[in-house]
Formats: sequence, C-alpha cells, structure tokens
Amino acid sequence: MEATDPLVERARSVRARAYAPYSGFPVGAAIEADDGAIFEGCNVENASYGLTICAERVALATGVAAGRTRFRKLALVTGGAEPVAPCGACRQVLAEFAPDLEIVSAASVATRRWRLAELLPAPFRRDKGEGAG
Ligand code: THU
Repeated sequence: MEATDPLVERARSVRARAYAPYSGFPVGAAIEADDGAIFEGCNVENASYGLTICAERVALATGVAAGRTRFRKLALVTGGAEPVAPCGACRQVLAEFAPDLEIVSAASVATRRWRLAELLPAPFRRDKGEGAG
C-alpha cells in the first residue's frame, strides 16, 4: 500500500465540488507550484457541452491568477477503476508553464504516473515558429 500523497488528497477533496451533471464524471485536480503552494480545480461542465473546462485547466489558471507561473507536480483524481491521463487540450495548456510536469493520476483501484514530456513530446511553441529569429 502506497503512502498517501497530500497532493492527491487535495485533488480528491476538490473532486466533490466538480460540476459534472452531463457526463457524470467528476474530476479533481491539484497543482503544486515551484514554491510549494497548491491550487485546486474541478471540471466545470456546460449545457453547450463544448464549453466544458477540465479540472486541470481550472487548477492551473487558479495558480496563475495567484501569481504562479512555475509548477512541478499535478495530481488528478477520478472515479472508475483505471486512472486517466490529461486530455490533449490540457496537455498543451500545462506545457506552456511546465513542459516536463510530473503527473500522478489516481482512480479507485490503480494509480499511474507520467511526465508531461512523454504525454506531449512536441507542444506548440510560438517561439519555435516563424519570426522566432
Ligand atoms: N475531464 C477532466 O476534467 N479532466 C480530464 O483529465 C479528463 C476529462 C472532464 C471533462 C468532462 O467534464 C468530463 O471529464 C468527461 O469527459
């Protein structure tokens, strides 16, 4: 039995506040900044479906709004047996601030770990394109 990870526990507690009436799939996320501060997020769905915001992006944006732009670890908590990896949109948004973020994802049975660089090895970077000099 693995020791309890405090970041996972923060993600687990905010999951209770997810607004997921359409999917029935509540997600909790907690992201730790380089200075140790932790920011929480849950998914926020919408009647138009496509405007849904994932838990990861809510957590990240909350940290940015609090003045953080460097992050070291993300925890995700979902239901179901198997852990989920962040969706493609969230990978790109997370890579803006932490291209090699440590990610831990806990479901009811299993836990998985990744580095963001393995999930998104080639993020879009504006400074890698035209005009970068
Ligand atoms: N969702 C997240 O919040 N994070 C993920 O990593 C996977 C998907 C949300 C979006 C939607 O509200 C629900 O889970 C089902 O896709």
